[in-house]
Order: sequence, then structure tokens, then C-alpha cells
Amino acid sequence: MNLSALAGMTVQGQDVTLPQMPPKTYAGLKDVLAYLGVTWDKRRKVHRLTGSEVDLRRKLAHLNAGGRLPPRNPLAFFPTPPEVAQQVAELAHEALGYRAHLGRRVTVLEPSAGEGALLQAVERVWDDPAHLDLHAWELDPGRAAILHVLGYRVTRADFLSCATPADLIVMNPPFSVPGDALAWRTHLIHAVGLCREGGSVIAVLPAVPLLEDRLLAPLLLDREYEVLPLPDGSFKSSGTLCKTVILHVTQTDQSWRRQPTTWHDDPFPNTSTLQVFLTAYTFGDSVWNTLDPGERSRSRFERGLQAIALDLQRQHLPVWLEDVDMAFLYARWLTFSGAAPPPAPARPLLPLFEPGVPAP
Ligand SMILES: C[S@@+](CC[C@H](N)C(=O)[O-])C[C@H]1O[C@@H](n2cnc3c(N)ncnc32)[C@H](O)[C@@H]1O
Repeated sequence: MNLSALAGMTVQGQDVTLPQMPPKTYAGLKDVLAYLGVTWDKRRKVHRLTGSEVDLRRKLAHLNAGGRLPPRNPLAFFPTPPEVAQQVAELAHEALGYRAHLGRRVTVLEPSAGEGALLQAVERVWDDPAHLDLHAWELDPGRAAILHVLGYRVTRADFLSCATPADLIVMNPPFSVPGDALAWRTHLIHAVGLCREGGSVIAVLPAVPLLEDRLLAPLLLDREYEVLPLPDGSFKSSGTLCKTVILHVTQTDQSWRRQPTTWHDDPFPNTSTLQVFLTAYTFGDSVWNTLDPGERSRSRFERGLQAIALDLQRQHLPVWLEDVDMAFLYARWLTFSGAAPPPAPARPLLPLFEPGVPAP
């Protein structure tokens, strides 16, 4: 940072006179002048001081002593553009909107609310916003004041100290802040911890392989989740070209998926465990490969499997569904063995698809 070009700067009242300098040098001092509070008054065609002269001298002394400019956007404020906010709100409504018809209230939290883009979008899509209890958290005092003026209940504090549970958490967290390069992950994990059973966390996140993250993989695999990639440039109007996705996590306990399989109540008594596993792998892979890479998620995968189970049922093949994994193992067993179905196991399977009953 070359401050020598400012050596002859003079201040009179709020008017500032800068020494002559080449346009390139002036352009290079843009951030410094903004920090010093010197702005260009277009109407009067003069530079003006927005703060006090004492403050200006203190800041100049700081820079002359080798001090750095403060980060321009330390809390990573990038407001969610309306189209993305709308998509988040529609997902939220799809997941929890039914509660309004049951007369049930939904508590909604926007944890790093900025100027409330997501809360406002949720209010717009809800059939009756009177059923919503909206709560915003925001660390920046200026933005917290805006949220207050907009009529939201605001807590002006670090969201990571929030301990209030919510049914719906809609968030576009800071992706990276000084001291936490993965702030988005820290915020997401905290939010999932606050989400009530049956609720949803819908988060705008950087487009990174979430399942390759050692902290996020178990968190996602123990729940229902879906990743929706956003088009490139979705945040251009907010000043960043960062690639983003929307992650929707549903708070349902799915940890049984990670339990080792036991075969006490083996529904495939005539089939070796090895055969079942091989089938699961090949069949599962082929379903996975039919999905568009951008749309691969556990829930889409399972929906694909469900469609296959349904298809088999349409052909009047008996398919009993305990869970989707079981369904496709069972269905596969039937198709390749061509044998009569094995006797029902002692533990009742949930008969979602019953033999001979036409598909819905
Ligand atoms: C990417 S912006 C998103 C703003 C808003 N959620 C939206 O969608 O428009 C991130 C916001 O988080 C706020 N923030 C950063 N760290 C925070 C923290 N620890 N607790 C609460 N808010 C925080 C920033 O001030 C900024 O307003």
C-alpha cells in the first residue's frame, strides 16, 4: 500500500483536498480512502470527510505504522437473491406447510439473518403467516436494527450461542469468517442440533462434496437429506460468483441405516447372504448411475428404488416393504429366483405393497 501519494492531503471542515496524482494511483487508493472516510461528492465535485478529522488522523497513523486495512466484509454478508430465497421458502413450505392446515404453529429461525431475505420469503409462501413464530439472529448491529424495523424478533448475538430449538431453520450462513474458514459447516452443525424432530434445516451452502466431510457425512447419513445445486452465478447480484447448493436436511432418525445388518429374521431364507449383498450392490449401483450426477442424494436414490418396487408390484409381483433397502433386496430376490416368495418372517413387515392389490 503506497500512502506517499496522500502526503499533501489537506482537510478544511469536511472538505478534503487530495494532491494531484495519476488516475491509476487514485484507483489503487480506493479502499484506503473508504477506510479513512473520504468520499467523492459528485454534486459538488469535491472530496468529503464523512467522519471526524481526529478519526482520520488516527487511521492514517495506524496505516503509516504498517497497520492493515480492516477486512471489508468481516461477517461475510452476501444477501440471498430473491429467486434463491423463493426456492428455499418453497422447499420449507413443501416440508412443513401442511401444519398450518392442522392449525399447528411452526417456529422458524433464520440464524444469521442479514436483512431477513429468507424469513421474508417464508412469510410470503405460507398460507397463513399467523401460524409462524419467526425469530432472527444476527451479529451485526446495523443489520440487527434493520430486522427489528422489519418487525422481527431479533437476537443480536453469535448464533453459535443460540440454544433455542426450532421446527424450521432457513439459513445462508457466513461461508468463511476470520478464525473459521469453514464457518458454514460450524453453523450448519449447530443448526441441525437445534432442529426439532420432524423439522427441517434448509441451508444455502458452498457447492462442495458434503459427504466427503468427516463431520458432515455421519450427520447427513443419519437423517433424510437432499442437495439441490443452484445455477452458476446465482449470487452474482450479491457480489460473489461462489458456486452454491441448497441442502435440505429433515430431522428424522435414520441412524439404523448405519447399524450392521443382522440376519436373525432373514426374509431370504433360500438365498445366501453373499448373494443378497451382491445383488444389493449391483442393483443399487445401477439405480445410482441412472441419476443425474447433480441430483444424487440418498432420498432421490431411495425414490428411484421405490419406483422400481412399485413397478414390480404393477406386474403383480408381491413386494413387501419394511424399508426401501429391504424392498429392493426382496424384489430383486423374486425376480432372479423366480421362486415363490419366502414365508413371512416372524417380525411383521409393513405391507405397503400387497400381493395382487393394484398399484395406486
Ligand atoms: C451470507 S449473509 C446471509 C444473510 C441472510 N441470511 C440472507 O440470506 O440474506 C451472512 C450473515 O451472517 C451474519 N453473521 C456472521 N456471523 C454470525 C454469527 N456468528 N452469528 C450471527 N450472525 C452472523 C452476517 O452479519 C451476515 O449478515
